Amino acid sequence: MNLCLGIESTAHTFGIAIVTFDGKVLANVKDAVSLTSGGMIPSEVAQHHVAIKEKMLGEVFSKAGVRMKDITLIAYSRGPGLAPCLRVGRDFAKQLAQEHHKPLIGVNHCIAHLTIGDFFAGSTDPVYVYVSGVNTQIVALAAGVMRVFGETLDIGLGNALDKFGREAGLGFPAGPKIEERAKKGSYVELPYSVKGMDVSFSGMITKATQLLKKGELVENMCYSLQETCFAMLVEVTERALAHTGKQEVVLIGGVAANQRLCEMMKIMCEARNTKFYPVPIQYSGDQGAMIAWQGILEWNAEQRNDVELAEIYPYERTDDIHVTWRKE
Ligand code: ATP
Ligand code: FE2
Repeated sequence: MNLCLGIESTAHTFGIAIVTFDGKVLANVKDAVSLTSGGMIPSEVAQHHVAIKEKMLGEVFSKAGVRMKDITLIAYSRGPGLAPCLRVGRDFAKQLAQEHHKPLIGVNHCIAHLTIGDFFAGSTDPVYVYVSGVNTQIVALAAGVMRVFGETLDIGLGNALDKFGREAGLGFPAGPKIEERAKKGSYVELPYSVKGMDVSFSGMITKATQLLKKGELVENMCYSLQETCFAMLVEVTERALAHTGKQEVVLIGGVAANQRLCEMMKIMCEARNTKFYPVPIQYSGDQGAMIAWQGILEWNAEQRNDVELAEIYPYERTDDIHVTWRKE
């Protein structure tokens, strides 16, 4: 049985997983830096990853019931992400590959979110709606790349929600708290911002924060933020479906955990006879299994990297990657 060890360390989460080449996740351990206020300080997050990496490695092997000698391939997240954090994952992966004479593959974190989505959804050629903290992208395979049909022009949806949550004293991450509060809210108009195929969230967050300071109920703001942001995403997704002729939608990234977003996407998909697949929550956020799975796909497509030259690419984009593992 061939096994891949996958290491994720692009941002707040350090994760390691062991996955079989036919896609069985034997173990998937992770630990995220928790923030009560403010943003991430890259060097501090990197220190967290350094402090826990050996313990996590021990844990993943004991959970999977295998040993280093059983591993066929090591994969790591090479970008995009915070350089100090990426370096921790890359250095650890490289060290293990050199010590144990294993091949090493660096993969793109965003692409890994998409392909683990396909694996669990059973989708073959979808429009991906990738909504995480940092990223908000509507993506589909076109001419050998995962083409970004639409994206945020300012901040990612998760970060936008977290920003509002900080102002409203909801704590971090705010997404789940906003979802809860929204259930008791009613609609107040907020700026709806779709420009061509792109979206933007900053103006809406500023407006919601102003209204909150003027005494508007936090529940109403949570409800209105969700309804407005999600409607924008649904609109752009529907246009991407119409343009590409694809008949599946895969919803991934941390914000995909939101039930109201799933409901709104599902309604649009049903009206178009399109299949809708939300990805299970344990695989929609950052974790090592998606890195291992992407490593396996690239390895099977004959991709080979030189261990000595293992790089990080903090700004690598989804559409920089040539898709070798899928036929169009
Ligand atoms: P990236 O994948 O771009 O590197 P990330 O690692 O920050 O970003 P994820 O771990 O995929 O992102 O997602 C985290 C985000 O998901 C947070 O911003 C959080 O508020 C949001 N989130 C989590 N649960 C929910 C929810 N139920 N509703 C809305 N947002 C949510
Ligand atoms: Fe991510």
